[in-house]
Amino acid sequence: MSALFEPFELKDVTLRNRIVVPPMCQYMANEGVVNDWHHVHLASIARGGASLVIAEATAVSPEGRITPGCAGLWSDAQAAAFEPSVAAIKAAGAIPGIQLAHAGRKASANRPWEGDDHIANDDPRGWQTIAPSAVPFGARLPRVPRAMTLDEIERVKSAYVAAAKRALDAGFEWLELHFAHGYLAQSFFSVHSNQRDDAYGGSAENRGRFLVETLAAVRAVWPERLPLTARFGVIEYDGRDEQTLAESIELAKRFKQEGLDLLSVTIGFSTPQARIPWGPAFLAPIAERVRREARLPVASAWGIDTPELAQRVVANEQLDLVMVGRAHLADPHWPYYAARQLGVERPAWTLPAPYAHWLERYKASEKAA
Ligand SMILES: Cc1cc2nc3c(=O)[nH]c(=O)nc-3n(C[C@H](O)[C@H](O)[C@H](O)COP(=O)(O)O)c2cc1C
Repeated sequence: MSALFEPFELKDVTLRNRIVVPPMCQYMANEGVVNDWHHVHLASIARGGASLVIAEATAVSPEGRITPGCAGLWSDAQAAAFEPSVAAIKAAGAIPGIQLAHAGRKASANRPWEGDDHIANDDPRGWQTIAPSAVPFGARLPRVPRAMTLDEIERVKSAYVAAAKRALDAGFEWLELHFAHGYLAQSFFSVHSNQRDDAYGGSAENRGRFLVETLAAVRAVWPERLPLTARFGVIEYDGRDEQTLAESIELAKRFKQEGLDLLSVTIGFSTPQARIPWGPAFLAPIAERVRREARLPVASAWGIDTPELAQRVVANEQLDLVMVGRAHLADPHWPYYAARQLGVERPAWTLPAPYAHWLERYKASEKAA
């Protein structure tokens, strides 16, 4: 059996293989409400055979959206709009997951293909951003955020809790907290963005406080039987990587104490000055270290786009789950393709009958020819 196609159990959830579709923003929501675009995207990708499909970064409050087109979960109507997609993902044999997010100082931006920059200050489509300190990200995101008051910190934590309850009501069975990519939670942890001198700034323990408290508050309402996970940038590639990594691993241990079930290991993206060593599966050794030292199951992404590479990082016990993002956009049936490439017996099991029936016959005729 191929390691990539071994099932994976976490709490009461069984994933049919190790291939996960990571959250990928579609920027197509209206007032935070998802629609047919998201439904077709999520349903078709789930049919392709991945074991877990995580819906895009979904804002817990309006000012937490990256762009005006980002999904939200601050109203019951937004939760209801996800229900058909949740049902379709389950019908395809995959587990429906969602990522809860707040974009912090990177919010109020234009869509990637419309500039990927901050909406101009005088443009009414934009809004006041919030962050631990009034420090802008810089480069194409120069908008200066307002430093959050303690009341505001409590408000955002409560928004995470309310959104988690709505996610549960909508039928999601896997929750991922977006603590990464320079958005609000990551910016509390990062020295590039946090200059607070209260209990939420200064030491690594204080910089991790917002994340730990948010996680604990969500765990209190998210059922024990279902996985609660976080995506967290453990490294910035900013020249102080060993220290960041050591602090991140300590924080991951605190997450575990608060009931975290799995960490999705990623990059911090907290500074435009980062020098990221892009390459095939370049983050896998970092994820492996987190897995070993924090004793947590891990997932990771970035450039794991061939079946051989995906198989290798699981077989070598670097990752428990492989997140395959852009390769799924290119081919929603990537797991089927991977199974064939790896010679997995009867790979068409990954596809629903209306496709599998014909593809099995097609394959047999190829062999006979
Ligand atoms: C279109 C697009 C949207 C993305 N949106 C999110 C998101 O909502 N949340 C997130 O954590 N990462 C997001 N990412 C990052 C992906 O989850 C993933 O980490 C990245 O694409 C690297 O994996 P890959 O090399 O397999 O594509 C996005 C990536 C893409 C291409």
